[in-house]
Amino acid sequence: MDLKEAIRLRHSVRQYKDEPISEEHVSRLNEIIKQCNIQSGLNMQLVCNDPECFDVFLAHYGKFENAVNYIALIAKKSIDNREELAGYFGQKIVLEAQMMGLNTCWVAGTYGKKRGNLIFQRA
Ligand SMILES: Cc1cc2nc3c(=O)[nH]c(=O)nc-3n(C[C@H](O)[C@H](O)[C@H](O)COP(=O)(O)O)c2cc1C
Repeated sequence: MDLKEAIRLRHSVRQYKDEPISEEHVSRLNEIIKQCNIQSGLNMQLVCNDPECFDVFLAHYGKFENAVNYIALIAKKSIDNREELAGYFGQKIVLEAQMMGLNTCWVAGTYGKKRGNLIFQRA
């Protein structure tokens, strides 16, 4: 699948299969995220097999199911255009995921914020 087809096919998915992402895909995603972090100065991180982040009322209300893998878009507050960078590089990663056959959904509200804070502290 090329980028144009990924753009055409990509849509938000909130209900996922109860299947792990393959090691090959995890490794490819980590490599893409690493390159994007180098280019952007962001500190994005792939988190796998973590059921807690979307096991909160808001996420169930938002109809998320089996969402156990996610990419945390993390930036230092000192980066003025961090939201623009997160949007640009986040979408780049989302489209790369689509080309691997992995569905995604942008989320800024319906997830467990406490878990997000934990990740931020670890960064
Ligand atoms: C920055 C951003 C944050 C979003 N946050 C949430 C969210 O917290 N929960 C949610 O269910 N949808 C959220 N959405 C909406 C979906 O990700 C998506 O854009 C919308 O459902 C449209 O679907 P489509 O991507 O298939 O066009 C957010 C979208 C964006 C761009």
